[in-house]
Amino acid sequence: MLDNNLEAKENLNPENTSSGNGLNQEIETILVIDDSPTNLEVLYTTLADAGYEVLVEMDGISGIEQVENNPPDLILLDIMMPKIDGFETCRRLQTNPLTKDIPIIFMTALTDTVEKVRGLKLGAVDYITKPFQQEEVIARIKVQLKLRGLNLELDKQKQQLEERVKERTAELSEALEALQKMQLQLVQSEKISSLGQLVAGVAHEVNNPIGFISTNLYHADKYAQDLIHVLKLYQQKYPNPDSEIEEVIETVDLGHISHDLPKMISSMRLGSDRVRGIMQSLRNFSRADGLEKKLVDIHEGMETTLMILQHRLKSQTYRPAIQVIKEYGNIPQFACYPGQLNQVFMNLIANAIDAIDEGVEGSNWESEKSKLFTADNVLSTPLICICTSIDRENVTIHIGDNGKGMESEIRDRIFQAYYTTKPEGKGTGLGLSMSYQIITEKHGGTLECISSPGKGTEFIIKIPLGK
Ligand SMILES: Nc1ncnc2c1ncn2[C@@H]1O[C@H](COP(=O)(O)OP(=O)(O)OP(=O)(O)O)[C@@H](O)[C@H]1O
Ligand SMILES: [Mg+2]
Repeated sequence: MLDNNLEAKENLNPENTSSGNGLNQEIETILVIDDSPTNLEVLYTTLADAGYEVLVEMDGISGIEQVENNPPDLILLDIMMPKIDGFETCRRLQTNPLTKDIPIIFMTALTDTVEKVRGLKLGAVDYITKPFQQEEVIARIKVQLKLRGLNLELDKQKQQLEERVKERTAELSEALEALQKMQLQLVQSEKISSLGQLVAGVAHEVNNPIGFISTNLYHADKYAQDLIHVLKLYQQKYPNPDSEIEEVIETVDLGHISHDLPKMISSMRLGSDRVRGIMQSLRNFSRADGLEKKLVDIHEGMETTLMILQHRLKSQTYRPAIQVIKEYGNIPQFACYPGQLNQVFMNLIANAIDAIDEGVEGSNWESEKSKLFTADNVLSTPLICICTSIDRENVTIHIGDNGKGMESEIRDRIFQAYYTTKPEGKGTGLGLSMSYQIITEKHGGTLECISSPGKGTEFIIKIPLGK
């Protein structure tokens, strides 16, 4: 009688140690499950002589346990056994993911075709027939072990390949993301510069006609005054014209005309001067910054920004006009990139207007205005405060609003590129990240934000002088 776990190490034939699959040099283990001691002995000797480590079990249940605890490289399985037969043992091994890949070779009677087919259908890889032909047994086992080795190797390579593909995919998607970011940034800056070009072009086009309107208005004013002078002189020298002239003078109300015409002309001149001024500031606003910093008055840029945003500041159906409170310090011209600073002002003020609008969104101002923060319990109107100052080191610009404010989770992320809480198509989430870059990198300054829900928001720009 054999022990249940016969080890064959002492029977190793050195020449056969590297047999088996040839891919790994370890001794391969074969588990024989058979209730016949005679069969076990024959197989044990044959296999051990061939250099395999041999384990034996005498019934299906212990066989399965053995496989689970100590997985062999191959299983030789008898069909006719007490408790559970070979088919059932095979079925159970095949349904367990941990054991299903271990090749099973059935041992059947030579003539029993039905059994062979059934075994193969259940997932066995091969069969050997009793009585055993030693060489045939070894040959079949070698083929199956070789196949298993190749399969294992294939699995390993597949896994390595999958890992490499995964790594590569991660690298690629990272690169793609970076490209998309860059592309968006390009689109954004292109948009800004083409908008600048458009504004500059329109300003240029308007400048010519406005130029001759105001020159002609100057002459028209002079001519009108001369004409009125002549008329008055006529009236003095000939106080009694004939009735036809008197009638016309009355119908056209000459007194009114001579009083009103000079006023009309001077208000037209005022208007055309204003248009010229606006055009000039639009041209200044949209000019491209060169490589060098320029000496400018930042209040000019601020005023133009407010002018451009005028249509958004004025009263809307859902809220009254936003009051802009300006406290401009006495700041001399200083060196900066004015075009870029204007971009920053534009972004901050546009955001402030958005925050005020979102604070009263979709509701009637009267019932919602209490949501805006109040000072001394006085209900406040929508406000934007712009305050500038200068000390020895810095120019400081505060831009505050009493809009909806931000939770700290939002405030922590506002300078990240593409971070936006606005609906798709409304915000790109680039405004503040670009502004941050302009202030910190281009001007060596700082951009800070103080905000909490219901308390409004304040941005503080500090730009060092002489940098
Ligand atoms: N004054 C403010 N009050 C409240 N929230 C603000 C204010 N300014 C910015 N935010 C928040 O910061 C986010 C990011 O602002 P940012 O200007 O970078 O992008 P955006 O305004 O959403 O889009 P855009 O690129 O069109 O400017 C906003 O979506 C908003 O949630
Ligand atoms: Mg914005």
